[in-house]
Amino acid sequence: MTIMDTGWIDIGALDDVPRQGARIVRTPSGCIAVFRTADDRVFAIDDRCPHKGGPLSQGIVHGASVTCPLHNWVISLESGVAEGADEGSVACFRVKVEDGRIHLAASAIAFAIGDNPAP
Ligand code: FES
Repeated sequence: MTIMDTGWIDIGALDDVPRQGARIVRTPSGCIAVFRTADDRVFAIDDRCPHKGGPLSQGIVHGASVTCPLHNWVISLESGVAEGADEGSVACFRVKVEDGRIHLAASAIAFAIGDNPAP
């Protein structure tokens, strides 16, 4: 991981994340899940399901959504909001792909640290 002075953090190559898969970025307060869709869009959201904290990074990606592996809630990767009848949401973080590299907004790490400080 490389922190650049542009406010973005290079977290790795797009090809390191399988299509319809995810990788995680560990922060002092938890993990951020970085998803790649079948059509190569990339999203970054908190890796804690709003239901009971399941690891969304281990869920099934379909379209721009992920199904939680624990109880099948469906979370929008675009908004972080639970779909259907379920209610809840997770934080979304700015992410972009340039020259085949994934860049996560440095503010995501600051948010994660500030949002839930380590004991
Ligand atoms: S913890 Fe994700 S659906 Fe229950």
